[in-house]
Amino acid sequence: MTHPNAQEIIEKTKAVLISTYDAQPVVLDRGEGCYAYDTDGKKYLDFAAGIAVASLGHAHPAIIKTLKHQAARLMACQASYATQEKLEAAQLLVDHSCFDQIYFCNSGTEAVEAALKCARKWAYDAKGPHCYEIIAFRNSFHGRTYGSASVTEKRMSQPYFGPYLEGVHFAKFNDLESVKPLISEKTAAIIVEPVQGEGGLAAAEPAFLMGLRKLCDDHNICLIFDEVQAGFGRLGTFNAYEAFSCCPECVETGKPMPRKAKPIEPDIAAWAKGMGGGFPVGAMAAKRKFGSAIVVGTHGTTYGGNPLACAVAATVMKQMLKRGFMANVQKVSAVMFEGLKQIQRESNKITDIKGKGLMIGVDTNTKCTELLKALQKNGLMATKAGDNTLRLTPPLILKEEQAHEALGIIGKTLKEMG
Ligand SMILES: Cc1ncc(COP(=O)(O)O)c(C=O)c1O
Repeated sequence: MTHPNAQEIIEKTKAVLISTYDAQPVVLDRGEGCYAYDTDGKKYLDFAAGIAVASLGHAHPAIIKTLKHQAARLMACQASYATQEKLEAAQLLVDHSCFDQIYFCNSGTEAVEAALKCARKWAYDAKGPHCYEIIAFRNSFHGRTYGSASVTEKRMSQPYFGPYLEGVHFAKFNDLESVKPLISEKTAAIIVEPVQGEGGLAAAEPAFLMGLRKLCDDHNICLIFDEVQAGFGRLGTFNAYEAFSCCPECVETGKPMPRKAKPIEPDIAAWAKGMGGGFPVGAMAAKRKFGSAIVVGTHGTTYGGNPLACAVAATVMKQMLKRGFMANVQKVSAVMFEGLKQIQRESNKITDIKGKGLMIGVDTNTKCTELLKALQKNGLMATKAGDNTLRLTPPLILKEEQAHEALGIIGKTLKEMG
């Protein structure tokens, strides 16, 4: 097939799309593993991966096989029907997390909406109609529908969409003292990202998350982790919360006690992105105490839990649960962090390196849009998280030599930029 000129595709697309994103100067055509190709055949190492979505890389044979098989069997059915695919996906999630119940949906923002509604319904039933307030954090990002936008700090600069949900307060991330004065008998939930994705890749301190856990236990408040970007292996553990271990004494004394440390479990989690490896699927997971607040008629979705999405999610999970999968994420993450530190020592351009696992933020003293353009020209696709933060979220199947290839491109590009 002869492709129309890339520029023509870009211009024609711009004319018929509502502009929600800046248009990229290339047109993507296909992907394979950790690489993507444009319509001119140029190859890119894909460190964007659809923003942490293509967790198994592009065109993974297991996902293709599942899609073909399930599409030929049953793609859609009314949400009230059980299917083997829905059961398998939900059972895998329950068996490999601290949660008892799953609600399937199609995206991150829907998972967050479900989490907020579940927490508020629980608080209404357990504590009364006065208890609906939510504490969120500065630099947070939870999505673009009204509930999730209401707990996203950026809404402060978007007054034209208001009024937002009432009763949302923003505390300072990683600062427990800023949370305490916001707690009252009206507080239903606290929502936090274990690593802030859009807000600059700051990782939570384990003692901060443990402090939130303790505050929620002491005041009977629901703790929600938004693992939409950080979950499903992105931090080198199946669940994002498993990457943060601490003990109550650490919070009291400030002294880590590694032998007593345990993963900090939320009451509810929101999942999406890497869960479908590129297929749109999301979920809200809850401990029974909270999940049981949602009963027939209080919430639901047409597409959520469809057999195709559930079959793909189960396939993605089974790949991630294979021996060595998480160890690879941890190994290449260490290569990336070490390599970036080396580049930082050699160049005056990098000011900070942040994040965890394969969710990495690189602060530079250049405008990130300029850096992204130069990286793309040199064969690396990435994204930004703020004006000066380069975000690297490669597929989790990244190999060590591909990590070195990316580091080589980053080092060379920063040098070229002077
Ligand atoms: C932490 C977090 N929550 C929620 C969302 C919203 O997900 P979606 O774009 O699938 O609605 C995102 C998307 O970037 C995210 O990073």
